[in-house]
Amino acid sequence: MDYGYLLEEALKARKAAYAPYSGFQVGAALLCADGSIYTGCNVENSSYGAACCAERTAFFKAVSEGKRSFRAIAVVGGKKDEEVLEVCPPCGICRQVMREFCGSDFAVVLGRSSLDYDIYTLEQLFPLPFDTF
Ligand code: THU
Repeated sequence: MDYGYLLEEALKARKAAYAPYSGFQVGAALLCADGSIYTGCNVENSSYGAACCAERTAFFKAVSEGKRSFRAIAVVGGKKDEEVLEVCPPCGICRQVMREFCGSDFAVVLGRSSLDYDIYTLEQLFPLPFDTF
């Protein structure tokens, strides 16, 4: 599977990151089952705990517009004003949010560039999610 185009969208989204406190800029691009793409960036706050990660920004944008079915998310992150050098794996809270809406075969695409990326299933990254019963 070629996720180069999705990573290009994540790299573009990263440019809007609001990260004056950590200096770490993240971009995400979420591919819906219908082929539409929702992007997100991290948005920080002077009250640090109020920050929102790029992945959740993308999910909440999509879900708030009625989307419920997703295929993949591309994520890129790195220090402000520097090229992305290494992959940026999603934090635990974002993995839990992904698990709310996505099955175990949802693809999490972690990029170093649009040509160099690793693909994981959500099952690999989050094998035992919390759920109510
Ligand atoms: N961040 C994300 O946007 N996604 C992740 O998966 C990990 C961390 C953001 C949160 C914060 O604004 C900055 O990166 C440093 O933790």
